[in-house]
Amino acid sequence: MSPVREPDVYIHGHHESVLRSHRWRTAENSAAYVLPVLEPSTRLLDVGCGPGSVTIDFAARASEGDVVGVDASAAVVDVARKAAAEAGRTNVRFEVADAYELPFEDASFDVVHAHQVLQHLTDPVAALREMRRVARPGGYVAVRDADYSGMTWFPSSPGLDEWVALYHEVAEANGTQADAGRRLVSWVLEAGFEPEAIAPGAGVWCYSSPVDRQWWSELWADRCVASNFAAQAIGHGLADEVGLELLADGWREWGRHADGWFAVLHGEVLVRV
Ligand SMILES: C[S@@+](CC[C@H](N)C(=O)[O-])C[C@H]1O[C@@H](n2cnc3c(N)ncnc32)[C@H](O)[C@@H]1O
Repeated sequence: MSPVREPDVYIHGHHESVLRSHRWRTAENSAAYVLPVLEPSTRLLDVGCGPGSVTIDFAARASEGDVVGVDASAAVVDVARKAAAEAGRTNVRFEVADAYELPFEDASFDVVHAHQVLQHLTDPVAALREMRRVARPGGYVAVRDADYSGMTWFPSSPGLDEWVALYHEVAEANGTQADAGRRLVSWVLEAGFEPEAIAPGAGVWCYSSPVDRQWWSELWADRCVASNFAAQAIGHGLADEVGLELLADGWREWGRHADGWFAVLHGEVLVRV
């Protein structure tokens, strides 16, 4: 009998401040490296789909195909279902499922995708093996993750320095890897994919315009005090409420700089199965 796996702790949770961030994501701004292999008839699985904005966008592109989004959280699956209904997309469905045990037959999908998910798993290599199992031979596994040490900003901000340090500490206490982006190639190799099948890359989000800066700084200020990240930082004994308020102030202060600039580096890997 295989040992029972303790469920991983998802650092962000699904507070409104987190969903405000995730709902902004589109296939174009978060999965451009996958778009060249999508066809109208593609069967695609989106693992850890969250509120489903990227998934629904995939379904618009694979308009004659089938798109399935799965997530461990029933609450966020409900959010994704509502978003699909509002968008009028009928070739996409959402289910509750665990990345480590996908409820699909071998070789069920042409493309198996996960965006910002492996960084939250204590065993990303096991999840990659499971993603490969449900991808058809000749299909693709596609993964993209941020790399927190690779994030950079201007002007310098002691508050943001403390925020990123605390983020690393909380992720480490959860047994997960905040600097996942740089490790994707290594994990894919460990999962047993052929080296010559791997197309590695990197992608960036950048927030600097007044609208983007305000949105990004305010949502992170709120996440510092109201999301699961805050609860876990306190729960692990790594911060207290006063300290978290100071981090939120740091985000708001950075957001007020007219010359503020923030870049989020990601690793991206597209692998042929
Ligand atoms: C950062 S969010 C990314 C959501 C979406 N892919 C996006 O980019 O907007 C990570 C998601 O992975 C989900 N997740 C975490 N662990 C999971 C697991 N073991 N199986 C399935 N989903 C998981 C979380 O519930 C969360 O919705």
